[in-house]
Formats: sequence, C-alpha cells, structure tokens
Amino acid sequence: MIQVKDLVVQFENAHETITVLNGLNFEVPEGQALAVVGPSGSGKTTFLNVLGALLPATSGTVILGGSDLASMSEKQAAHFRNQEIGFIFQQHHLLPQLTVLENVLVPRLAGQWQESEEQTRLRATQLLERVRLSHRLNHRPGELSGGEKQRTAVARALINQPRVILADEPTGALDGETGAKVADLLLELQKEQGVTLVVVTHDLNLAERIGHVFDLNESQ
Ligand SMILES: Nc1ncnc2c1ncn2[C@@H]1O[C@H](COP(=O)(O)OP(=O)(O)OP(=O)(O)O)[C@@H](O)[C@H]1O
Ligand SMILES: [Mg+2]
Repeated sequence: MIQVKDLVVQFENAHETITVLNGLNFEVPEGQALAVVGPSGSGKTTFLNVLGALLPATSGTVILGGSDLASMSEKQAAHFRNQEIGFIFQQHHLLPQLTVLENVLVPRLAGQWQESEEQTRLRATQLLERVRLSHRLNHRPGELSGGEKQRTAVARALINQPRVILADEPTGALDGETGAKVADLLLELQKEQGVTLVVVTHDLNLAERIGHVFDLNESQ
C-alpha cells in the first residue's frame, strides 16, 4: 500500500524556489493500480521519483509497504529499491556497454539475491520473451530501436519480482500494438500477482484500462 500525505517537493536554484508538488494526498491500496496524468512539466516524473525513493520530499510523508521513506538512510533506500520496487524510467537508462540480457540482470548484480544466478538468467530470458525480445538478447542498446530499448527496460524493472511497479510513460515510445502488449503485461502482474502499480501515462486508453486516475493538475 502507498500512502502519501501533504507531499511537497520544491527545487531551489540561485534565484528562486520552484514548487513542483504542492500538498498531494492520496492512497493506493496494496495490489491496486493508479494512472497519473497531467501536462508536461506538471511534476509526474518528480512524483514518481519520490515514490521510488530516488528523490527526498521537501515535506510531507510517503509510506510504501509500511516503510516511511523519510526514515531511511541512503543505503537502506537503495536496498529497498533493489528488493521491492520495479522502476521503468521515462529515459530508459540502459547501460550501453551491456547486452539486452545483461541489462536485465543488472539489478541482481547490484543487490544481494537469494536465488541462484542460473534461475535469475532463466527468468530474465522468460521476461524478454514476454516483451518479444527473444531475438535480441545479445544486442547492445545502441543497436536497438526506441521501442526495443523501452521493452528491455520493462523486463529489467520486473526481474526483482517487485511488490510495487513505478512506470514513467512505459508505452510512450511504442506503437499501438506493442504498447498494448506492455500494458497487458503490467496489468497482468497487478491482477495475477497483486503487484501495486503506479503508471504515469499520456495514453488515455491505458489510463482507462487502469481505471483509477490521479490528475496532478486537479489535485493541488
Ligand atoms: N532537479 C530539478 N531542478 C529544478 N527544477 C526541476 C528539477 N527537476 C524537475 N524540475 C522542474 O519541475 C517541473 C516538473 O518536472 P517533471 O519532470 O516532474 O515533469 P513531468 O510532468 O514529468 O513532464 P513531462 O510530461 O514533460 O515528462 C518542471 O517544470 C521541471 O523544470
Ligand atoms: Mg516526465
């Protein structure tokens, strides 16, 4: 379950303080999905970064799966992200020198996992099959199309079997059919495995399928 109370995020530069999120309140029950919408610059990525413990709130409370993010050290936050969260970035952030398969395995290298390496590799190839990339396992990101990079990033976000998936425009770079497949996969994980899903999207079709919509412009 995600609980957000009076969330404020401000950025300071030499001349001014910019308030990007100004007192957000909401909850996502465990296993539910939420679509976050709002125009460019309204703070959607900022909001997801706070939920994913990548950016501290200026004030307010964010509780994820019973843990108060503000009480975590950086090390605890990194461990929490590695174990509990699948983050699909707007700019996919793949490592250019690694292959598709190796990129999906990166979270395993970054954390301490119980599972054998062989088992993780098997799940990685299965996930890549689900995002239709079985024929690109040994390609490097520079050799992929935009949509293929995005689908690799989706597989990487799922490899730790997260309890919470935070996705920033996961279908934004994809054609209708591929986008719908990625959306199917995310909604399947939510419905069948009880994953809590927060998706930033401009895709009205996806927002409609998710059902619950949080409009950043109307909420603050
Ligand atoms: N590190 C930062 N320092 C200063 N301002 C920032 C910083 N990060 C974001 N902003 C500002 O905060 C606002 C919200 O940015 P954000 O990336 O969250 O928007 P967004 O809703 O995701 O937009 P888009 O739909 O274009 O991806 C923007 O006006 C941006 O310029
Ligand atoms: Mg954004």
